[in-house]
Amino acid sequence: MKRIKAVYPGSFDPPTNGHLDLIERGSKIFDELVVAILQNPEKAPLFSVADRRRMLEAMTTDFDNVSVDTFEGLTVDYALHVEASALLRGIRAISDYEYELQMALMNRKLQPGIETVFMMPAEKYSYVSSRLVREVVQLGGSVSCLVPDLVAQKLREKMDVAHKFENSQKPSGKPSIEAKSKSRKKKV
Ligand code: PNS
Repeated sequence: MKRIKAVYPGSFDPPTNGHLDLIERGSKIFDELVVAILQNPEKAPLFSVADRRRMLEAMTTDFDNVSVDTFEGLTVDYALHVEASALLRGIRAISDYEYELQMALMNRKLQPGIETVFMMPAEKYSYVSSRLVREVVQLGGSVSCLVPDLVAQKLREKMDVAHKFENSQKPSGKPSIEAKSKSRKKKV
């Protein structure tokens, strides 16, 4: 019987519970599933590809038929390279559909032999995206129910480093220009 291998491509910056939900669903219908992180030199990601790979590997240890890899260039070329015949993508809401349809049709044009399979994550994750997770964390909100614990921990570490850097850039003890001009006005 033909074994079906699928690639689940994405940025995963950071991986969320929605991604994990989709990986679990994908692992049940495909014989093999490769979670493939795009290395995109044009984007400035929050997490390095190596960090994202480590997080995804830790998140997927329980799934025997799931592996994690990274790729550059076209997704369909990567899929051919690993001998996969399907791409897995998630659709959370109708707003995802237009972009996903366009991408699926372009991928089909490029490689007619590779099918895109859409799956829906659990409704409770239908509003969760990596972009919103990054935004909430950067503004000091909690994302503990939206990402696995290890990702939440990594996000906290990132924010601590960012805050320490910000603080180190602030002038220490010197009065600001505004404060100086106020004190001059008082003397007059
Ligand atoms: O998690 P994302 O950012 O929605 O994933 C988008 C991704 C990586 C699947 C998409 O940008 C992609 O496939 N990029 C690789 C380049 C490519 O194949 N482009 C043509 C697709 S139509």
